[in-house]
Amino acid sequence: MSRLEGKVAVVTGASLGIGAAIASRLAAEGAAVVVNYGRSKDAAAAVVERIQGNGGRAIAVQADVSRQDQVVALFDQAQSAFGPLNLLVNNAGVYVGSPIGDITEEHIDKHFDLNVKGLLFATREAVQRFPEAGGSIINISSVVATLPPSGMAVYSATKGAVDTISRALAVELGARKIRVNSVSPGYVVTEGAKDMDGEGQFASYMASVTPLGRVGLPEDIADVVAFVASDDARWITGQVIPVSGGVRF
Ligand SMILES: NC(=O)c1ccc[n+]([C@@H]2O[C@H](COP(=O)([O-])OP(=O)(O)OC[C@H]3O[C@@H](n4cnc5c(N)ncnc54)[C@H](OP(=O)(O)O)[C@@H]3O)[C@@H](O)[C@H]2O)c1
Repeated sequence: MSRLEGKVAVVTGASLGIGAAIASRLAAEGAAVVVNYGRSKDAAAAVVERIQGNGGRAIAVQADVSRQDQVVALFDQAQSAFGPLNLLVNNAGVYVGSPIGDITEEHIDKHFDLNVKGLLFATREAVQRFPEAGGSIINISSVVATLPPSGMAVYSATKGAVDTISRALAVELGARKIRVNSVSPGYVVTEGAKDMDGEGQFASYMASVTPLGRVGLPEDIADVVAFVASDDARWITGQVIPVSGGVRF
């Protein structure tokens, strides 16, 4: 399918995991994709190479999304490479567990600076640059927003904020034909998730409580993001869309 032909997309945190799959899927649908990365330069280059190898258009742009100045530079580079922006996927995120007794200011800032402030910085830049025809913003949330596991209060709070931002901005930006939605994954096997789950015990547990009987793959999320980004989803805004194999929240 080529539902995104002629569109320009920025995907934050697209060097690894869910973001890399989203970048590839949007490019396969015809979008020119800006593959943002923080530290994983080689991984981002590999994503771009894969997209180009399949006949798509992509560039890698380094920017720490938790830093306002770097986010502005990211969007400037996106615009000079591909022209006006149509799609933003706010995917970059961190998640580290910590019991409440052990949390530090640094732990709180690390999560909120990227997952919430960074998302707002990127959204502000995108909204200023969308054409009159509008645009689509997709925020990668998590089922933890309403189904928080033990030891994840801070991370879960950031994703609760993300869902509220999606609902609030859908109202604020609807008149400008800008749609804002959350796509909310359950557990997905990624580099980051594997780091958190040494022996894979959490993944096994999640598979056992998931109605569809397995854990998620990055492509399970990317396929839904491509739909929400496309005109097929033109009447959907302000929604939190669970993509969790049936895990309910
Ligand atoms: N995996 C899951 O089970 C799961 C479930 C629900 C929701 N989510 C959400 O899905 C999103 C992606 O998760 P994932 O599991 O794919 O994570 P991951 O494997 O850890 O990858 C994280 C991505 O974010 C980028 N990133 C980290 N800090 C950044 C920064 N300051 N600026 C720019 N990019 C940055 C990383 O790039 P560099 O390495 O280049 O810095 C990487 O590309 C997150 O928002 C997460 O909360 C994940």
